[in-house]
Amino acid sequence: MKVLLTGGAGFIGSHTAVELMEKGYEVVIADNFANSKPEAVRRIERITGKKVALYPIDVADADKLEQIFREHTIDTVIHFAGLKAVGESVRYPVMYYRNNLDTTLTLLETMAKYGCRKFVFSSSATVYGDPATVPITEDMPTGDCSNPYGKTKYMIEQILKDAAFADPSLSIVLLRYFNPIGAHSSGLLFEDPNGIPSNLMPYIVKVAAGKLDHLNVFGNDYPTPDGTGVRDYIHVTDLAKGHVAAISYADQNSGVGIFNLGTGKGYSVLDVVNTFIRATGVNVPYVIAPRRPGDIAECYASPDKALKVLGWRAEHSLEDMCRDSWNAVAANPDGYPED
Ligand code: WQD
Repeated sequence: MKVLLTGGAGFIGSHTAVELMEKGYEVVIADNFANSKPEAVRRIERITGKKVALYPIDVADADKLEQIFREHTIDTVIHFAGLKAVGESVRYPVMYYRNNLDTTLTLLETMAKYGCRKFVFSSSATVYGDPATVPITEDMPTGDCSNPYGKTKYMIEQILKDAAFADPSLSIVLLRYFNPIGAHSSGLLFEDPNGIPSNLMPYIVKVAAGKLDHLNVFGNDYPTPDGTGVRDYIHVTDLAKGHVAAISYADQNSGVGIFNLGTGKGYSVLDVVNTFIRATGVNVPYVIAPRRPGDIAECYASPDKALKVLGWRAEHSLEDMCRDSWNAVAANPDGYPED
């Protein structure tokens, strides 16, 4: 069965490609390398020993996207492609709406033209905004997002729900990721953000590698056990396996399935820093800095529905996530090589 991964050379997409291929799926990747590199695809092939059909295209380009559906019988699409930097989305909202919505709409039109009816969407816990309570369940309110990036995720969820309502043969799965970190156990695949990282773990590993002087801990006066922000960190390989489970679900169901992909455990910034130091033996100097605008105090999932319906749950510990992140960066100090 062939699965098209848009943005499949990215952090989550590349790890998902490996898990799918190891389960016997054939993978087609469409990626414009806006936030990834072709080397990641070569690493996927190296890990699995299998070839990937790669199309270096912008998914919003209908003609180029259609070529994929002409050349392959695509059974399911997993839509990872999208801009995803919260701060950048505040500075360039129109670029985020144009890119994230156009790619989705072009995909849906092309899928309809070729009778492809299964769509798994890379959504995000950010659609919950600042939750009234934790753990977060899938039936909790969404849409009150604090930034354009989160609003694009929410809007795309609405587009997909409307599409499914209009065409009952569609099978749509919305996967709401919490905080993906870690790297493939081989050290060959990892998160390779452009420029100065905005997310916590990519920043920590650059400090550990001596490329940045120290970590700024954004606030220690939150109403949390140690005052620093609490999040639900999930190993990227566990997240990737959640996508394999989602495809099985899409095969057996129509309509819209919505699932949190998190561990159900909340860890503070200092929990992550201290676990990283313990897991790797590498120090991470930090200073307490002012809160980051838009940050919330606490966010972690109830993963019960994914376990009950998908038969999936996260298995890696925070220590695993820290160790794997560091192993990959230690082996690839300058990230993926440019082509
Ligand atoms: C985690 C915690 C920060 C950096 C965002 C998006 C979400 C997803 C993941 C894309 C917070 C603290 C961070 C630093 C710090 N993105 N922190 N110093 O904001 O929970 O989620 O990224 O899919 O959709 O919303 O993740 O890693 O940026 O922050 O103290 O240098 O670490 O305050 O408490 P976040 P994050």
